[in-house]
Amino acid sequence: MTTDAGPAPGLANSAPDPAFRPMVMADLSEVMRNERRSYSWPWTAGIFADCIASDDCWVVESKGRIIGHGVLSHGPGETHLLNLCIGRGNQGRGHGRMLLEFLLDRARARGSETVLLEVRPSNSVALELYSSLGFREVGLRRDYYPAADGHEAACVMALEFT
Ligand SMILES: CC(C)(COP(=O)(O)OP(=O)(O)OC[C@H]1O[C@@H](n2cnc3c(N)ncnc32)[C@H](O)[C@@H]1OP(=O)(O)O)[C@@H](O)C(=O)NCCC(=O)NCCS
Repeated sequence: MTTDAGPAPGLANSAPDPAFRPMVMADLSEVMRNERRSYSWPWTAGIFADCIASDDCWVVESKGRIIGHGVLSHGPGETHLLNLCIGRGNQGRGHGRMLLEFLLDRARARGSETVLLEVRPSNSVALELYSSLGFREVGLRRDYYPAADGHEAACVMALEFT
């Protein structure tokens, strides 16, 4: 039987929000806006263009706007998280955790056994997020990041899928 009564109440806007989709070149101005507002030393548009060509780049969309992005580089058995960013006005609402869980699912589906990342030891929000999802500190790269007074080390973290 068919009906023209339309979708049941509550199902009219059932498209997921936020939603994840692959990043394309046309996204770069919105991506760069979030990147610049969220990092003191942002990536350039050229770095994102290179990553779109060779890596696994995603954006998070909500209400028609790009609110965040993430970049993975997959190797044999191993994935590197190169960038994870939620635009400043949308931080602290669970989007970063959702994006990271989505990216970890992709790494797992690609057969990776380990996910690696670097994070500034001063970035307590990111450290909390990574630790809560099982990442453990496995090393330190000295003078890795630019900083106001010179350079800052990177904390290297790893998540092993069991
Ligand atoms: C780090 C970042 C991706 C987290 O995304 P977010 O959407 O702000 O974070 P969420 O709301 O999903 O919170 C995830 C966890 O982060 C931590 N967190 C979030 N806001 C926090 C705050 N104000 N203080 C301390 N911890 C906080 C908590 O552990 C939180 O877990 P909870 O859900 O149990 O509370 C985002 O803040 C960001 O883009 N920051 C700038 C760029 C950056 O530093 N990227 C990481 C580089 S390694």
